[in-house]
Amino acid sequence: MTLSSASQIELHNVSQSFNHNAQQITLFQQLSLCIEQGQSYAITGPSGSGKSSLLMLMAGLEPPTAGQISYIEHGRSMPLALLRQNIGFVFQQFHLLPELTALHNVALPLKLRGEKNAEVIAAASLEKVGLGHRLNHKPQQLSGGEQQRAAIARALVFQPKFIFADEPTGNLDSKSAANVADLLFDCCRQNGAALVIVTHSPPLAARAQQVLAFNNGNCTLLAKPQMEVQDACY
Ligand SMILES: Nc1ncnc2c1ncn2[C@@H]1O[C@H](COP(=O)(O)OP(=O)(O)OP(=O)(O)O)[C@@H](O)[C@H]1O
Ligand SMILES: [Mg+2]
Repeated sequence: MTLSSASQIELHNVSQSFNHNAQQITLFQQLSLCIEQGQSYAITGPSGSGKSSLLMLMAGLEPPTAGQISYIEHGRSMPLALLRQNIGFVFQQFHLLPELTALHNVALPLKLRGEKNAEVIAAASLEKVGLGHRLNHKPQQLSGGEQQRAAIARALVFQPKFIFADEPTGNLDSKSAANVADLLFDCCRQNGAALVIVTHSPPLAARAQQVLAFNNGNCTLLAKPQMEVQDACY
């Protein structure tokens, strides 16, 4: 994909901090990087270091304390509202709608886009994550791992340009985790989507083309040695 045809998200000198009980928590400062369609990225680091916060900010779902986030399409700066229409987001806490079945949760992004065959496509997406037998279950009738897979099916169902996944294999056994990782990376390759994964799993992070690592209040792009992943255990 060439730079002129690809969409990208640019972070310019972005900082994020929170004021809590008169105490300032600074997660990162003056971070500049680019998320390009067709590329895969992993975000790693200790609990509480700012990984989920960075993901929300990259997706245009939260504003930074300082700096600028730009969404570029065909070389032109576009509103962040347009970026938000082009992202699939797997939240760390899943955020499935409790009143809707798995099928209707996954069909929702398609219905919002006017897709007439939403339920057929949603059922196929749930089948892909191994939930073909749980279409009519509501979230509270699903296990944690099943809810996670339903959230992944929902994020991928409309073939978004950007996929953000916050610890997408955190609740899964190693076989389901490997399947889900394959789905996410296949989506990136086949649809030319960008994939940004937050993970504590070194083998999963090693599958990404670039790794952003949080360490002692710094967030840096690591030069990443390629590793063999066939036998990876998540
Ligand atoms: N809205 C907020 N107000 C105050 N503090 C916040 C807010 N959001 C996040 N924080 C703090 O920022 C820090 C980083 O949170 P974040 O959720 O980004 O961490 P994380 O790296 O994703 O951690 P984990 O691996 O446990 O999911 C935490 O200490 C958290 O308490
Ligand atoms: Mg988190």
